[in-house]
Amino acid sequence: MYYQEYYAFQEKTPVKAIIRNYQETDFDALIGVQKECFPPPFPEELWWNKEQLTNHVRLFPEGALCVEINGDIAGSMTALMVNYKPGDTHSWEKVTDNGYIRTHDRNGNTLYVVDISVKPAYRKLGIGKKMMQAMYETVVQLKLDRLLGGGRIPGFHKYQDILTPEQYLEKVVSGELTDPVITFLMRVGRVPAGIVHDYLDDSESGNCAALMEWKNPFKQD
Ligand SMILES: CC(C)(COP(=O)(O)OP(=O)(O)OC[C@H]1O[C@@H](n2cnc3c(N)ncnc32)[C@H](O)[C@@H]1OP(=O)(O)O)[C@@H](O)C(=O)NCCC(=O)NCCS
Repeated sequence: MYYQEYYAFQEKTPVKAIIRNYQETDFDALIGVQKECFPPPFPEELWWNKEQLTNHVRLFPEGALCVEINGDIAGSMTALMVNYKPGDTHSWEKVTDNGYIRTHDRNGNTLYVVDISVKPAYRKLGIGKKMMQAMYETVVQLKLDRLLGGGRIPGFHKYQDILTPEQYLEKVVSGELTDPVITFLMRVGRVPAGIVHDYLDDSESGNCAALMEWKNPFKQD
């Protein structure tokens, strides 16, 4: 299991933090994180419920991570294992079993990200990056080929009258535009591998996602 004490930095001030697997006693706090991170127009039904969280800790506890600061859950990240062939298209609902992860495959080759969220009050402290790095370590530890996930493109709605999602992603990749999720994912090492349409009920992202990959550097194709 994963447990590490470390210092997050709030501007120049070190703040004691713990990154660890989440468990049943964290469920209420984890649902609180979701409420703060995914306000309307994001659909409430997509926030975690206790049945989904119970499945995460029972079916794949290694994929259930959170960061705790002064006893408060500041953010969480969840993943499952799947068998993925490059080029496979999928929706969030299908690959994650709507967040219930009964699709988790112990023999899979890919660590697939179900969700990452950090409470607004704790953003830009490196917490998202720390959780992503922990998942990269898990990819290496479990000898998987890659980490993969559909990144939301929440900045897309501002440009949807003039750009396709593909053109929007190109402009984020070239640095002409900044997206709150895709730019974050690129800064923490993920590489875009195309747009998936009808990925998630997410009007800000035009219901699309950018498939974002991190390849295990110790494994070559
Ligand atoms: C995306 C999210 C998880 C980032 O978490 P975070 O803890 O604030 O990110 P970090 O502090 O670890 O940032 C890591 C890097 O990304 C950059 N970054 C973070 N947020 C960014 C943003 N909104 N725009 C541009 N860059 C950003 C940071 O500057 C940092 O860069 P650096 O390492 O080069 O200095 C958080 O904003 C969030 O929870 N958003 C809402 C939920 C969501 O949409 N999740 C994605 C689901 S696919």
